[in-house]
Amino acid sequence: MQPMGGSFGWLEATALGSGMRSSLWMYPIVEIFHIVGFVFLVGAVFMFDLRLLGLSKNLPVTAMARHLLRWSVLGLFLVVPAGLMMFSAHPGDFISNRVFQLKLLLILAAGINAAIFHTGVYQTVDGWNTQASAPSLARFHAALSMALWIAVIACGRLLAYT
Ligand code: HEM
Repeated sequence: MQPMGGSFGWLEATALGSGMRSSLWMYPIVEIFHIVGFVFLVGAVFMFDLRLLGLSKNLPVTAMARHLLRWSVLGLFLVVPAGLMMFSAHPGDFISNRVFQLKLLLILAAGINAAIFHTGVYQTVDGWNTQASAPSLARFHAALSMALWIAVIACGRLLAYT
């Protein structure tokens, strides 16, 4: 019995937890929602990061942000509940899994990186909104964002093998 996992025994015992373990289709269907969720989330984030890195300079950064942010938020509202539902099937195993712990840390780092960008260098966007290269700090945030989300996806996929 994993000591830490023990504290999630209540979740494992819920109707949701036992349903996710016993039903043939519930877990795979929920995992499909998880995948569709991060396609929206990470897909929208990547399109914005590529704009910051200099692609499609004719498209205003602010318009891209307005258009893409809503899809990344939609993605979050799919990927997190679906993730928690899958987590409820084997919370003890997942919470003691180093790859799962790393995945959550990377998601937190990606969130902090986005928050620092939006409250920091993005405040000067009027100076580089179109037909201009974004400041090197903005490009650094974009490259870090892409690396972090790729690492999150890699951890998510490797969960099945660890
Ligand atoms: C927010 C961004 C997230 C991304 C990009 C992401 C990505 C992934 C990926 C790529 C997989 C593998 C899917 C597959 O190969 O079928 C996965 C599986 C999984 N994720 Fe996430 N995930 C995210 C958030 C979460 C959260 C917040 C949780 C729960 C707290 C979570 C829990 C899980 C679980 C339990 C699995 C299933 C592992 C398995 O049975 O193979 N994920 N995730």
